[in-house]
This record gives sequence, C-alpha cells and structure tokens, in this order.
Amino acid sequence: MVRRAVIVGCGSYLPARVVTNAELASTVDTSDEWIRERSGIAERRIAADGETTSDLAIAAARAALNGSGVEPAALDLIVLATATPDNTFPATAAKVQAALGAAGCIAFDVQAVCTGFVYALATANAFLSSGQARTALVIGAETFSRILDWRDRGTCVLFGDGAGAVVLRAEEGGRGDKSDRGILSTHLHADGRHYDLLYVDGGPSSTQTTGTLRMQGREVFRHAVSKLSEAVEEALAANDMSANELDWLVPHQANRRIIEGTARKLNLPAEKVVVTVDRHANTSAASIPLALDEAVRDGRIRPGHLVLMEGMGGGFTWGSVLARF
Ligand code: ACO
Repeated sequence: MVRRAVIVGCGSYLPARVVTNAELASTVDTSDEWIRERSGIAERRIAADGETTSDLAIAAARAALNGSGVEPAALDLIVLATATPDNTFPATAAKVQAALGAAGCIAFDVQAVCTGFVYALATANAFLSSGQARTALVIGAETFSRILDWRDRGTCVLFGDGAGAVVLRAEEGGRGDKSDRGILSTHLHADGRHYDLLYVDGGPSSTQTTGTLRMQGREVFRHAVSKLSEAVEEALAANDMSANELDWLVPHQANRRIIEGTARKLNLPAEKVVVTVDRHANTSAASIPLALDEAVRDGRIRPGHLVLMEGMGGGFTWGSVLARF
C-alpha cells in the first residue's frame, strides 16, 4: 500500500487592477503589438499600494481551504513559494499561518523563483509521502511589480502579480503505479552557473537594497525551451508514460512562445495546454497554481485526470510534478 499526497482543493487570487499593454505603452516605450507578438501577453494584474505578497497568499489560501473543506487548524504544513516576500525575514509563510489561524504547524518559504511552486509542491510531497505530515497547504504568491525596473522595457512588460494555492492530504491505498490518485512523481533541478542570466541586482547581504530584476531574455528563452522539454520527457519516462496519456499540461506561464515551443517539441496538442499568460503575464511562482485553479474551476481538469506541471526560472532552476486528480 502506497501513501500519496492528493490535491484536494485549489484556489487563487488576483489583484483587482488590470493593466493593459495599451496602458503600459503610455509610460513605457513599447506597444501592444510588440508585447503580444513576442510574449502573448495582453494584460496583467498589479497589486494595489500597500497590498503585499502575504495579502495575495492569504486570499488564495482561504479559497483553497474553502474548496477542500479542510479547516486551517488541521494543517500540519504550509510551504509558500515566493521571490518577493513581504520582508527579508520572517518567512511570509509565518504571516499567512497566523492570519489563517493555523498556529503551531510547520511554515516556511521556498525560493526557486519561477520554479518555486514546483519546488514547494515537491517539498510538501516529501513530507506527506514520508508520513511527517498529513495535511499541507502549498502556495505560490508574488508581487513582481515591486522588483521591476519600469525603465527597462525588455523586462517590465512581462510580469504581473497574483497568488494560487493547493491543499494536499496524504491518502493511503495507492497501488504504486500511474493509476494512483495524487502526486506520482516530482523532479527538481538547478544549475547555478546561469545565475547572472536572470537575477535581482540587490539583496540584504550584497547591496542592502531590494534591487530590480535583470534578465538576458534571449538566452533565458533558449535555455527555457530545452530545459522544459527535458523536464517533461524525464517525468514521462519515470512514469513509463507517453505524452498522449496526459490530460493536461499546466506549464509555468512565462511566455506563449516558450509554452508553444515546449508543447510542439512533445507533439502535445494545444487543446491540452492550460494558458493564462495572455491575462496574467508572468506571475513567477504563482503562475502554475493560478492556471491550475482556473482549469479546475471551469471544469477542464476533472477527477481522474493526469496533469503535468512544469516550470523553469532564475538560478536556473527547473522541474516537474505529475499528479492524478
Ligand atoms: N517594446 C518594444 N520593443 C522592445 C521591447 C518592448 N517592451 N523590449 C525590447 N524591445 C526591442 C529591443 O530593444 C530590440 O530592439 P533592437 O533590435 O532595435 O535592438 C528588439 O525589441 C528585440 O529585442 P530582443 O530582446 O532580442 O527580443 P526577443 O525576440 O528576444 O524577445 C523577450 C524578448 C520577450 C524577453 C524574449 O527574449 C523572451 O521571452 N525571453 C524569455 C524571458 C522570460 O520569459 N523570462 C521569464 C523568467 S524565466 C522563465 O520564466 C522561463
């Protein structure tokens, strides 16, 4: 009998303010046409003044808990993925835990930038499948608008703010094969030799400032398509599975061209790929749970479906989680 971490609920939250490409073009030297053509992005959400990553995370977490019927007091573990924490410390997860009324459980942040949610989900899965926790909340939450250089048109048009969350419960009774419900595999990678291709030029120990995002877009793009295709192939091989057995690919939403390039390499039809980048832009660690929640709520992802999540981000970091709903 195998113990699996099963996704029993998801939720998300987007700040109210929508910023279209046309609005951006009134203050940044860019155009709706350029942004759509290069990235597939039409608009993004931007957090209100004073609205922090923890505010977004708490709203997404409450939605996920409501949807799952799990009480905050029943949580053993909160893992929050973010590269834009409220403060350098304590972990934003601690603030979320207190607000939810889950005092006493394990709570910490994970920092893997755009791969953050995949890293957080894999971490929670390790706790649940090893019996160290039974019920977990995994959140991806970001306010990337706060670390953008609004004079750098090559980066500031690509990102947005938001949060998504899932509730996981350990369930026994799996057969140990791909027919099981729950997380079937996780694969994580990092290659710090590419640190300088995508980073924030500040931090408490280096500059004592927050800094802003710096990216060599073309280089990141090149690595992204190859690393993400490798990540998908690795997950399929580990589960003795072909791409056509997948019901859904829920990729990190960085750029429509990266998503389509990855799907094409795998011969995966576009109808099986969940895309939100057009409306959310790149919300880093929040993008996968935001996309997941949208597809669950509109009835695309249903019980029994096999869903592959994958992401790549600064570090570089990359990886995948395969789960049956
Ligand atoms: N509006 C108008 N023109 C622009 C803009 C803009 N916002 N930004 C750049 N340009 C101009 C450049 O100045 C350049 O002009 P030039 O030829 O006169 O010098 C021209 O557009 C082409 O610039 P490139 O940077 O070469 O354009 P590219 O086709 O590579 O597209 C982009 C840029 C969209 C950033 C692309 O490289 C990309 O998507 N990279 C991946 C980055 C990414 O997704 N990062 C997210 C984090 S990592 C992850 O999540 C995978």
